[in-house]
Amino acid sequence: MEAVITLLPGDGIGPDVTECALEVLEAVAARYEHSFRYETQLIGGAAIDAEGDPLPPATIASCETADAVFLGAVGGPKWSDPNAKIRPEQGLLKLRSILGVFANIRPVKVYSELVGASPLRPEILEGVDMLVVRELTGGIYFGEKTRDETSASDLCTYTVNEIERIVRVAAKLASGRRGKLCSVDKANVLETSRLWRNVTDRLMPVEFPGIDVETLLVDAAAMHLLSRPADFDVIVTENMFGDILTDEASMLAGSLGMLPSASLGDTAVGLYEPIHGSAPDIAGKGIANPCAAIASIALLLRHSLELETEATAVELAIASAIANGARTADIAAGGETRVSTTEMTSEIIRGLH
Ligand code: IPM
Ligand code: MN
Repeated sequence: MEAVITLLPGDGIGPDVTECALEVLEAVAARYEHSFRYETQLIGGAAIDAEGDPLPPATIASCETADAVFLGAVGGPKWSDPNAKIRPEQGLLKLRSILGVFANIRPVKVYSELVGASPLRPEILEGVDMLVVRELTGGIYFGEKTRDETSASDLCTYTVNEIERIVRVAAKLASGRRGKLCSVDKANVLETSRLWRNVTDRLMPVEFPGIDVETLLVDAAAMHLLSRPADFDVIVTENMFGDILTDEASMLAGSLGMLPSASLGDTAVGLYEPIHGSAPDIAGKGIANPCAAIASIALLLRHSLELETEATAVELAIASAIANGARTADIAAGGETRVSTTEMTSEIIRGLH
């Protein structure tokens, strides 16, 4: 097939891992006889430096016409002054909003060879395999913001429609898995969470009677994620809770460098990004873990290009690189040899069959 993919390297280790993502796409194209065309565009701090705008019009145009978009990472100390008016993250939030990708799917998979990389005990990690479905275009991230000398506010809003559509996405995914959905809110304090709970309680028995639904308050969920992670199948939650819980969940997998994500809406143009940030301290050093980026490519192949065989092949290639002992610094145990970002990528491509 032919496809156009917009690449947004962004900041920090974003360019390092985007390079790996591209290499894997090219390896897939060669092996399966596809022809992918790439448009590399500016976003985040790099775009602020070049054009004074974290999401320049050319980037928007490219993303809107592409078959899929891959993003490395945005942000860094250079642009993080709390008084800055223009910020890298605004570019990413605006892009998510423009593309209408309200459903951010974050799979958390634990490779048995990496249990030693997690701070949790191996017996707790046994059988962990969950999907966190994070609402991505609403809530406190997008509400009105105010700030003056003495006070500041961030408004959190959700509509019934926004809650219904994300719960449906999560419930459908649960139907294809173990049939369990855990909805996470803070209904004991927040009005938006009470609406979230009402909508979920009403919709689930009617539309998805076969799904086993559990509801947790977010503080308890943060604890249960560590005490009984294997119990979770699909978790659905609002934007900010999903952001926080998935960084926590990455420790089950051993490193933030292992978790990919797919952001999907009603159209096929998906946005694919590793969940890790720009990690400025290791940017350009060649030691970043490319697994999250490459696993995001697998999701891109699956969800936007409908290339399931290729997607599975990439996932198996990551698993085989790990089984063969390839370890970047973040997942290497004490005595293990560490490979570089490019060595890890080559090892993965070697296992692509
Ligand atoms: C993520 C990131 C972003 C978010 C930042 C960079 C705006 O942390 O994708 O998890 O908070 O959504
Ligand atoms: Mn985050």
